[in-house]
Amino acid sequence: MQLALAPLQTYTDYHFRNAHIAIFKGVDKFYAPYLKLNNDGTIKNAPKIDILPENNPRINIIPQLMACSEQEFFTMSDYIEDLGYSEVNWNMGCPYPMVTNRNLGAGILNKPSDLFKLFDTIFPKLKIGLGVKMRMGLESTAEILEILPRLNDYPLTEIIIHARYAKQLYNGGCDHERFMECISLTNHSLTYNGDITTNEEFDFLRTKFSTVQSWMIGRGAMVNPGLFEEIKFGTIDSGDVYRNKLMLLSEHLTNSLLNCNPDRGYALSKMKSYWEYLSESLSDGNQLYRKVKKAKDITELTDHLQYFLLD
Ligand SMILES: Cc1cc2nc3c(=O)[nH]c(=O)nc-3n(C[C@H](O)[C@H](O)[C@H](O)COP(=O)(O)O)c2cc1C
Repeated sequence: MQLALAPLQTYTDYHFRNAHIAIFKGVDKFYAPYLKLNNDGTIKNAPKIDILPENNPRINIIPQLMACSEQEFFTMSDYIEDLGYSEVNWNMGCPYPMVTNRNLGAGILNKPSDLFKLFDTIFPKLKIGLGVKMRMGLESTAEILEILPRLNDYPLTEIIIHARYAKQLYNGGCDHERFMECISLTNHSLTYNGDITTNEEFDFLRTKFSTVQSWMIGRGAMVNPGLFEEIKFGTIDSGDVYRNKLMLLSEHLTNSLLNCNPDRGYALSKMKSYWEYLSESLSDGNQLYRKVKKAKDITELTDHLQYFLLD
């Protein structure tokens, strides 16, 4: 069984990935949030820095890109290849209209002929492995039924499916029955993604999709970063041990953020956003998050964490 941490833009950056691997176990693969181009055709700086090997010293990461033309694709995949990576993931899942209206992210899923034309030009020139992470469609999960069998013609490394259609955004449930249909339609290595938040939910899905060997978890791991160990090793930390680990995670995050950008306001706002998720796993998380949200400085935020997590 392989477990992956999903890419979550602004959350699962190298600060979080490095802090996570220092404190928690169980993640086999980390996916970096997507690279994207500026209007002038250069690659945006933050995701570019995020995947630098020196920022990811102990980690097996797969960089991701979002493109809608051959030129865009190779601008980013050449950069990724030059950094020494052997695989890249193509984001065909981003659901937001600003993105999909430009045929980016999930915007290509209801235009299969455009998608396969792009693949036909890209694959013969491709020097690194290519996997895709996709929704089941733009407007309906039925769209994947046309795409998936045709993807068997291309040497993809893997297909990761977030079992929703894009226009759902994150609303409603995942379409498990459609995912079941997908299993028999692909010859590629298939990863399930969507709403795995507890060990019980994972067991339900593993029993339902008994041939699936690979799983990706996003928001569930931002709320409970110990979820991978729980699933993989059955380790359930006592409250005190878990709180201690959250404190250590926060210290790693804070140090890494301050190292990267001495502006204490940057560290403060990033820590507030991590804790919006992390607080959800604690019985007194609402009280803690209220304090964290009001903190005026990173030292004050750390004091609140120490009070709630260690006292
Ligand atoms: C804040 C946020 C940022 C995300 N950024 C990315 C991204 O950069 N690339 C990507 O493929 N998916 C991105 N996603 C989607 C997740 O990777 C994942 O597919 C989705 O959250 C469903 O999995 P989950 O229910 O385990 O969170 C993002 C999701 C959220 C909530």
